[in-house]
This record gives sequence, structure tokens and C-alpha cells, in this order.
Amino acid sequence: MSTLLDETTTHALRDGAFGNARALTCRECGHEVALGPSYACPECFGPLEVAYDFPAVTREEIAAGPRNIWRYKALLPVPSDIEQSPNTEPGFTRLLEARNLARELGLEKLWVKDDSTNPTNSFKDRVVACALSAARELDAKVFACPSTGNLANAVAAAGARAGIPTVVFIPSNLETPKKVNSAVFTEKLVAVDGNYDDVNKLASEIAGEEEGWAFVNVNVRPFYAEGSKTLGYEIAEQLGWRLPDQIVIPVASGSQLTKVDKAFQELITLGLVEDKPYKVFGAQATGCSPVSVAYKGGTDAIRPVKPDTIAKSLAIGNPADGIYVLDVCRRTGGAVEDITDDEVRDAIVLLARTEGIFTETAGGTTVGVLKKLVETGQLDTSLETVVINTGHGLKTLDSVSDRVGPAATIAPSYDAFVASGVL
Ligand SMILES: Cc1ncc(COP(=O)(O)O)c(C=O)c1O
Ligand SMILES: [Zn+2]
Repeated sequence: MSTLLDETTTHALRDGAFGNARALTCRECGHEVALGPSYACPECFGPLEVAYDFPAVTREEIAAGPRNIWRYKALLPVPSDIEQSPNTEPGFTRLLEARNLARELGLEKLWVKDDSTNPTNSFKDRVVACALSAARELDAKVFACPSTGNLANAVAAAGARAGIPTVVFIPSNLETPKKVNSAVFTEKLVAVDGNYDDVNKLASEIAGEEEGWAFVNVNVRPFYAEGSKTLGYEIAEQLGWRLPDQIVIPVASGSQLTKVDKAFQELITLGLVEDKPYKVFGAQATGCSPVSVAYKGGTDAIRPVKPDTIAKSLAIGNPADGIYVLDVCRRTGGAVEDITDDEVRDAIVLLARTEGIFTETAGGTTVGVLKKLVETGQLDTSLETVVINTGHGLKTLDSVSDRVGPAATIAPSYDAFVASGVL
């Protein structure tokens, strides 16, 4: 077995390859290992995450940076010359005050963080940019991922721009736009007959057999996951350097939710925002809701499920970070909730008709869960709330194409228009 993960790999890291990152630390037992291509603790097999020695960072230094995620490079495991390497430059997406949706749901103050405007139209461009940097520093020969669709899009695009051979693995039943959005960037799109958990298992096997492969969410996962922190940093910066009271985040593997919390904690520690309570809420679709089921059952035991939902980007039946999602939501006084596919469709249309934002099924799930949290009294309507839209609706057109369409089909005449009753 000779892979990027092999302990005997002797690739010499250049100085500052991972910026201010100090080590990889085990989330379970705290054991530290040297920065490198590892993702499981050698003591207890717990997940490793990046720990830092942060320098003093000021708001002004951040504000003077580029209008993309590299403005936060001092807080990421990337070298100080990161802007010199080709990447898709994601981030600094808009934070929109959603007055119409707030009124509709009975909330006093609501914001939508709209990550559908990233280069490949989902938040995954953020994590991939960090993973690409790690892959480069580790001298990887192939850039790869198992994906529920959006990650494949982001990896394929970043790999193309970086000029590194890229192979992406997806479940064969994914939405056509997501397949095309990967295949256009790489000729090596592999559709696997199975669900995401099967695809992930295959990727782990390949990572164990092949040399020099960087699977962004497998063997360089600790570095990849850090990219999601930038969503949290941006929300705080765009709110004028303060944290929201409540935030609703979709959950597949659970990585994004836990990293937004990590970002908020770091900003507090660094004195960049005031220390205050905030509640984190997780959103799942009922057809794949292992974390929500565990939350409601008051247990830490997450029972893997076989997904059956239109929210395919969230269809991970055995979420790697599920247990940490429970931790964050319970610690902050939030919750994890789930909604049906019909409610997901309704919420996509609701967000579109109130705010002019077309979200994919993951965002439908998040907005629909926000609505349910209000209706069930789990969310305080007087507090400032942020909901994250993680992907674009053009990627999952079919989910609403039977709900919306022309009000009438008419002959090209004024009389026909009047007769149609549209006005
Ligand atoms: C659009 C979208 N939103 C949310 C998620 C959930 O991300 P995570 O696996 O970090 O929980 C995904 C994952 O693929 C996604 O594609
Ligand atoms: Zn450990």
C-alpha cells in the first residue's frame, strides 16, 4: 500500500506550506500529529482537524485582502503566497437581508447568505480551494473526490484551472445538470451504480491502493474542511463584525455546520467579534435524516440510513461529522430538524417568489426547515437569523419543473391574452 497517506511517504514540505497551522489534532482524544496527509488519529482513529498558532489578526488586515476567501488566509491552512497559485477564487458571496421572506415567516430580521454565486454555484468551491492548496503542497499527482454532485463540480473546475489530472466519482442517478457541470471540466467523471456511501467506500479503497491521489474529502479532509470556516467569517464580517443570534445550515456529512461554529469560536478567541451566545440549527430532508433522528431521540448514536429524497446533495446516509453536529447544536441551544420532499419543493418556490433567489434542493431543505422551526416554536422570531443557501436551483431544475410553468399558452394576439385570464 503506497499512497499519499502512507506514513513512509517522504515528500518534504516547504516552509509555511500550511500557513499558521501548527498540527493536526484528534477531535476525540486531543492527540497531535505533524501536519501532513493524515486524517485519522493513530491513537483512537478519531477524525483529525487543523490546529493553529494564530498571529494577531486585525479586521483592517482582513478587509485589505482580496474579495475572496484568501482575505482570511491567516486563519486557513494555506501558504502566505496562496494568491499566486491558480484557483477558482471562491467566496465573498452576498449576504442579503430577506425582508419579504422574514415577513412571510414572521421573523423580525432575516438574512440569506447566498453561496449559489460561487464559481461552480455551490459552497463547495470554498473547501476545494483549500484542498487544492494541500494537494499541491503534498505533491499529489491526481486530484479526486467522491461526491453527491456539487463537490464533483467544484473539484473538476479547480483541477482544470490548476492543470492537475482530476477524477471525480458520483452516484450514477445524480441530476443531469450536476453531471454535465463536472463532465465539462474533466473527461474523467466516473458514475458509480450505488449511493453516495458506496461511492465514498470505493474512493477510500482507491486511496489505499493508488499512489499520489489526493481525495479532497478523504485523505486531505482536515485541510478541505477548513474551507467551510470562510462562510462563518464572511457572515460575521458582512454583519459589521458581529455574530448572528441564530443560523440555519444544511447537513450532509455535517462538515460545513461544524466548521461555521469553529469559525465563530475562532473570531471570538481572536477578539475580532464580541463574545455572545448564538444558536446553530441543522437541516436535513426526512428521506435522509440520520442526524435529525438522533437529535430528536436524544441520543448520540447515529444510525446510518439508505437515502431516499430529492435532496440528493444532502443524501449521505452515514455522515462522518454527524456526532459533532449534535454536539454543536446541543451546546449552542439550537436543534436539528427535517422536512419532507414536498416541503423542500414548496420552500424552493417560497424563496424564489419572496427574494428572487433560486436555490437547489439543499437550500429548499434549509429554508423549509427554517419555516418548520418557526412554526414549532424552536426558533426565536425576535432574534436575528441567518439562513445559508448552499447551491443554485439550476442544478436541480427537475425538482420544481412540475410545480411551476407558464400561466397560459396563448396565440400571439391581444385578444388571446385578455381571454387567458392571466391579468
Ligand atoms: C448544496 C449543498 N449543501 C450542503 C451540503 C452539506 O455539506 P456537508 O457535507 O459539509 O454537511 C452539500 C454537500 O454536498 C451540498 O452539496
Ligand atoms: Zn485520538
